Amino acid sequence: MASYDVIVIGSGPGGYVSAIRCAQLGLKTACVEGRDTLGGTCLNVGCIPSKALLHASHQLHEAQHNFAKMGLIAEDPKVDWVKMQGYKTEVIDGNTKGIEFLFKKNKIDWLKGWGSIPAAGQVKVGDDIHQAKHIIIASGSEPSSLPGIEIDEKTVVTSTGALALDKIPSKMVVIGAGVIGLELGSVYARLGTEVEVIEFLDDITAGMDGEVQKTFLRILKKQGLKFTMGAAVQSVSVKKGKATVSYVKRKKDTTHKLETDVVLVATGRRPYVDGLRLDALGVILTARGQIQTDAHYATSVPGIYAIGDAITGPMLAHKAEDEGMAVAEILAGQAGHVNYDVIPGVIYTHPEVATVGQTEEQLKEAGRAYKAGKFSFMGNGRAKANFAADGFVKILADTTTDRILGAHIIGPMAGDLIHEVCVAMEFGAAAEDLARTCHAHPTYSEAVREAALACGDGAIHS
Ligand code: NAI
Repeated sequence: MASYDVIVIGSGPGGYVSAIRCAQLGLKTACVEGRDTLGGTCLNVGCIPSKALLHASHQLHEAQHNFAKMGLIAEDPKVDWVKMQGYKTEVIDGNTKGIEFLFKKNKIDWLKGWGSIPAAGQVKVGDDIHQAKHIIIASGSEPSSLPGIEIDEKTVVTSTGALALDKIPSKMVVIGAGVIGLELGSVYARLGTEVEVIEFLDDITAGMDGEVQKTFLRILKKQGLKFTMGAAVQSVSVKKGKATVSYVKRKKDTTHKLETDVVLVATGRRPYVDGLRLDALGVILTARGQIQTDAHYATSVPGIYAIGDAITGPMLAHKAEDEGMAVAEILAGQAGHVNYDVIPGVIYTHPEVATVGQTEEQLKEAGRAYKAGKFSFMGNGRAKANFAADGFVKILADTTTDRILGAHIIGPMAGDLIHEVCVAMEFGAAAEDLARTCHAHPTYSEAVREAALACGDGAIHS
């Protein structure tokens, strides 16, 4: 039992970043984590392992489809699934151990076990009760399934099971054309699985820019993924290791069945607050089960704060990290702040999809006068050389002031390219500011500048 300035519950990107920032600001800090390794969902069963499999399967795709075009002979590349899983595990280990190192470096105590809050100012881990002036809940989220679907993480899996299947399935049905469904669906499609995505809505990646959605769907179909849109999955039954998915086509109201080896349920996530005793403490939750906080991440109970997937807003690791830093700064008497208007979203398929700020649909709905500058990667020399010319950059700017309101990219390295627009938006830049900034040639980034030029007198290479 010890006494701390801050105890952070959960060591995912929100929690561990918050703990480090608290320690850097001179607060005596501990972090509670019940898993065997630090890093939460993101490092153990989320962002990091999925990116390892996306990277490996993309290399296979390149070897199969593009090597010969460049005079590289790598005939009939094969997949050693056990080794690929081993590579994934090594990547996870390297990252989780890195957090352990950072905790030691910053003198943060790792309280091993699942934490609960008996009362404000106290965190119980195992049989020990630790004292804390401030408690930050960063307990994250868990997959939310559908009624009528039982997850066994073997035949009917969430993202966690999909990252660790025994073998590459011949057929996979993905329920939900959101980020998880499309990233993991892409992995298995590249590894040779027949992937069919069933989506409730009429568009994939709900809420994204409509033009990006259409281009993305076309590209994914070209890559071999099949889509059934406007269909609500009702149930999944499993018999002798095979699954049968029943769904209703919403417009026609007809019921259909689909047999498959594996079903990936990717229908969203919900806050994970089990065991914290929030009810007994009187911590108020929203109707969707998220912890309610004010602008300073304070919950309804003094001394208890919450950040990341457990509160409102997009369930993104980097949003959690930013909130983690902000709350640490607030607790240290500084002015911590997150600009929710400039939080990028990235889908790590190939090509990548990246977005920040407002979409055309949102601007139209708000009645805002805007202009759209668009540039196709077909006009980008680097993209053409790298067989990566499918896609575009679109920048949206205010008609009168030219201030950048949003950017939407589908194309090579979109997840990295988006950040120059994020920085520009943070500084309240106009599209002309980006357009007048010298961009090295030949880079993918030139496409961003060209889109900014297209908001003015016109792009050069289109
Ligand atoms: P999601 O909310 O992105 O997509 C779920 C999809 O399932 C929706 O399109 C929805 O219409 C559909 N759906 C729901 N019920 C259905 C039914 N009965 N039949 C057919 N379709 C149905 O959720 P997802 O992909 O599970 O991701 C969860 C969270 O994790 C998201 O907040 C996402 O942002 C985050 N995440 C982010 C990543 C990234 O930033 N690259 C990677 C992975 C996850």
